[in-house]
Amino acid sequence: MSKFITLEGIEGVGKTSNRDYIRDLLEATGKPCIVTREPGGTALGEALRELLLQHAQEKISDDAELLLMFAARAEHLHKVIRPALAAGKYVLCDRFTEATYAYQGGGRQLSMDKIAELEKLVQGDLRPDLTIILDAPVDVGRERAGQRSAPDRIEQEKNDFFERVRSAYLDLANLHPERICTVDANQPLAQVQQQIKQQLQSRDII
Ligand code: TMP
Repeated sequence: MSKFITLEGIEGVGKTSNRDYIRDLLEATGKPCIVTREPGGTALGEALRELLLQHAQEKISDDAELLLMFAARAEHLHKVIRPALAAGKYVLCDRFTEATYAYQGGGRQLSMDKIAELEKLVQGDLRPDLTIILDAPVDVGRERAGQRSAPDRIEQEKNDFFERVRSAYLDLANLHPERICTVDANQPLAQVQQQIKQQLQSRDII
């Protein structure tokens, strides 16, 4: 049976290495899996990602940013996610709608109700079976992300933006404990992976 798993968190919490770890666990337990990301995952989505993350000459309005995230998502669901789930595959996605609640809702302070309406419009009843939020203090994440590359348009926001993003993520985990969990990412990688494995096992995913 297919499952839809998403990975979330602020910058620098180790999404990429943990995504690879989850993929390996799924494959080792005989689960066919595709790995994808948002914004992105399709030709249109990757083009929108470029537009969203590059430093724009003109400020992108918050509503346009929100709608572009959902436009990329609509394409991704139609072309990649729903077909893979229908074919019995596991889908492991680096960010999904919880990122919109966290970044556009928390960070940009857009209405959560407005986001919920778009979620319903674009996804119907489809929600991830499990969302793992990698959680770490903002200064820890930003320090790690800053060592990696120059900040993109969203990464250049200030600490208070990322504090709001982090707290919106934690609120989501409290609101939907049946499908969203947090993992303390401010620990050595082996311990983070141990927590992830426990979550996957306790929810019958591996
Ligand atoms: P990342 O996948 O490399 O972390 O970069 C994606 C960026 O896009 C990240 O800063 C979070 C942001 N983002 C949103 O603001 N809203 C969304 O809905 C998604 C999927 C990503």
